Amino acid sequence: MLVTSRSAAEYHAMFDLAPEELAGARVLDCCAGGSSFTAETPTFVVAADPAYAAGRSVLAAAAHQGRVDGDRMIEDNADRFEWTWYGTRSRRTAMRVGAVERFVADLGARPSRYVAAALPDLPFADDSFDLVLCSHLLFTWANQFDQRWHRRAVLEMARVARREVRVFPLVLQGTGEPVPFLPALCEELEAAGHRTEQRKVPYRFQRGANHMLIVAGSSARV
Ligand SMILES: C[S@@+](CC[C@H](N)C(=O)[O-])C[C@H]1O[C@@H](n2cnc3c(N)ncnc32)[C@H](O)[C@@H]1O
Repeated sequence: MLVTSRSAAEYHAMFDLAPEELAGARVLDCCAGGSSFTAETPTFVVAADPAYAAGRSVLAAAAHQGRVDGDRMIEDNADRFEWTWYGTRSRRTAMRVGAVERFVADLGARPSRYVAAALPDLPFADDSFDLVLCSHLLFTWANQFDQRWHRRAVLEMARVARREVRVFPLVLQGTGEPVPFLPALCEELEAAGHRTEQRKVPYRFQRGANHMLIVAGSSARV
């Protein structure tokens, strides 16, 4: 799995984040990788990823390599992507190069914001955050992680999220096919008292990846 580096602009579009939703919020970016969302966001954000157990120079190299390998994968599978949101390839590349640089600089300046942690077990107390964001781990890698793992991972994020959890995208990496167990998983989450919603987002890149999953956090349990 690549350590990719999406920017705050990409996060805002993938999670359809309005400025008022972030104002004053405590946010967890769970599976943050080399994203610059933490570095770029003025509100309190913690980034969590098992890759953070490695040192800064190893992580910087992994993030740079992740960008190069990601670009190559997109060129090799050009028919699976659309460019309406980015506009041009060079605009996307510039975003990702800038994101890696900001991530590496912030990791050095504020190491306590980057916590080594792996789903489905997070080292945070209940309700530690208002909002938990999860980009390109759940569902993306559903060929490696089964429905049971996803259920544990979502419930764990909901445990630490007071308001809600947002997950993007809802399709498999590579093919962009729907994840067969998503409807059953949502039923399980609803049965556990967590309202779910699949909402269309403004971000466009991987074909078929147009929706995020919103799961109610602990304060909104029914
Ligand atoms: C494709 S990257 C996404 C990074 C970032 N969210 C983004 O959108 O650019 C997936 C990340 O998930 C991390 N990861 C792998 N297994 C994980 C787990 N069990 N819990 C949390 N993160 C995990 C990897 O280390 C990697 O950095």
